[in-house]
Amino acid sequence: MSISKSLFLGCFLVLSGGAAVTASDDPKNGLGGRPNLGIPMTEADIKSWDITILPDGTNLPPGSGIASTGEKLFIEKGCNQCHGDGAAGGSNGALITDQKIEIGNIFSNKTIKNFWANSTTLYDYIRRAMPWPSPRTLSNEEVYALVAYILAGNKLIEPNAVMDAKTLPLVKMPNRDNFILRFPERI
Ligand code: HEC
Repeated sequence: MSISKSLFLGCFLVLSGGAAVTASDDPKNGLGGRPNLGIPMTEADIKSWDITILPDGTNLPPGSGIASTGEKLFIEKGCNQCHGDGAAGGSNGALITDQKIEIGNIFSNKTIKNFWANSTTLYDYIRRAMPWPSPRTLSNEEVYALVAYILAGNKLIEPNAVMDAKTLPLVKMPNRDNFILRFPERI
């Protein structure tokens, strides 16, 4: 077969492959008219990922924690290996620091204290993403304690303040008023 003929045949096969996908668009052949791949998620599957905490604290779980427990956990859970002793920064960013944002310098360091608008985000973020090598392994109580440790270290709460679903949303972050809500009606 000549090169041009085999190229032509190749194109034809690719095109007819596309046509085969269209045939499986028939709802009888696949999920919602798509190729019959994957399995439908159950309510339980969805629930285990549906852990978003809203800025006002909606969905915060039961439990509580204080900074002194969080300080111990910060070492036990290996947070210090990346975020440094006392959360002052290591191979990854500082979580307790007084660095300021330099107005006009887009590269200046954004930290939890100088940038984050909502204290509740700290809970959501740590629970879903940390420790980096094994996310979603912390208990609800442990997350409250780690949150308390970081907030107390940044002098945003009293050293002995108990963080729970009621108290955490009341913590005011210093930069909270400098954000513009694009779609306030959706919050
Ligand atoms: C192996 C390294 C590693 C470990 C261990 C680790 N982190 Fe992190 N952490 C990171 C990295 C990397 C980021 C930045 C992730 C990104 O920007 O997507 C981060 C980001 C964070 C942030 C957000 C910081 C900011 O200013 O945006 C918090 C809070 C945090 N980690 C808390 C913790 C806590 C609490 C633990 C322990 C339970 C922990 N981390 C363990 C690597 C680590």
